Amino acid sequence: MAFPATRLRRLRKTGVLRDMVRETELTPSHLVLPMFVQLGEGDRTPIEAMPGVERLSISQAVEEAGQAHGLGIPAVLLFGLPADKDEQASGAYDEEGVVQLAVRALKEAHPELVVITDVCLCGYTSHGHCGVVLDDGTVDNDLTLELLARTAISHARAGADAVAPSDMMDGRVGALRAQLDAEDFKDLPIVAYSAKFASAFYGPFREAADSAPAFGDRRTYQMDPANAEEAVREALLDVSEGADVVMVKPALPYLDVIRRVKEATRVPVAAYNVSGEYAMVKAAAAAGYLDERGVVLEVLTAIRRAGADIVITYHAKQVAEWLR
Ligand code: PBG
Repeated sequence: MAFPATRLRRLRKTGVLRDMVRETELTPSHLVLPMFVQLGEGDRTPIEAMPGVERLSISQAVEEAGQAHGLGIPAVLLFGLPADKDEQASGAYDEEGVVQLAVRALKEAHPELVVITDVCLCGYTSHGHCGVVLDDGTVDNDLTLELLARTAISHARAGADAVAPSDMMDGRVGALRAQLDAEDFKDLPIVAYSAKFASAFYGPFREAADSAPAFGDRRTYQMDPANAEEAVREALLDVSEGADVVMVKPALPYLDVIRRVKEATRVPVAAYNVSGEYAMVKAAAAAGYLDERGVVLEVLTAIRRAGADIVITYHAKQVAEWLR
């Protein structure tokens, strides 16, 4: 009779032992809740492909963020839906713009809540691209940097705790860092969307933010899903330009990238469990094909196990409730 030399099942026999040797923790303290904020005091507007997620007025956002914070979620990530869009994305850096007003209201109501703002132009441009579009239809990198820096400064002035550039222009982290330092925001962290892939999983978000590009696509600035080595280069560059946290996005299809970025940079890594990942689980759960709670906890634990310190997820409130 041959006996196995080691018996790994011994430590699986009771919940107590399983808990003691668990390698990865998933708690609300790692989660960030994304929120879509709009002007006016109308009703919450649902987002069709994201059941449970709604566009909120500023006062509704204050309420929602308060609930999330009460559940142990330390941070929110804000996306603004401006009243008007134009070629210069002026709503993005308007001192009285939707994000700027929302940040002030959130910080006043919940001073302990960490308010992170998404810094990009796509929700504010009439054409839906993440930067300034030239006559030939291309996105101009360096003209865009100026507008992104203005946007970040306006968020900082409103009281944001961190800014998160998601545009994927080259040099944006350095441009933001220089401008923030010059304006006396030396201690304001930059959470850089470093490895942001040109992904089909952003579909529901673009419905929510009405930010689908009117022509072309984002492949001239967002990354090719086939590239992991390049993701490491992007992350290292962002760190060298002053990023405090680097992000990989989407999360679940890119667990290998999360791991490689973590090992290469040794800085905190955030992973964005994006709108399409959320929609996929919600749809399967609604059809009765998957158990939502089990799947979500497994997915988020896997994202943490891959190396993510922070997980941005539309499921944040539900997860915090499940983990209570
Ligand atoms: C803006 C931005 C996008 C997302 C976050 N910031 C959309 C895009 O690049 O088209 C997607 C988030 C999600 O799908 O949940 N550039």
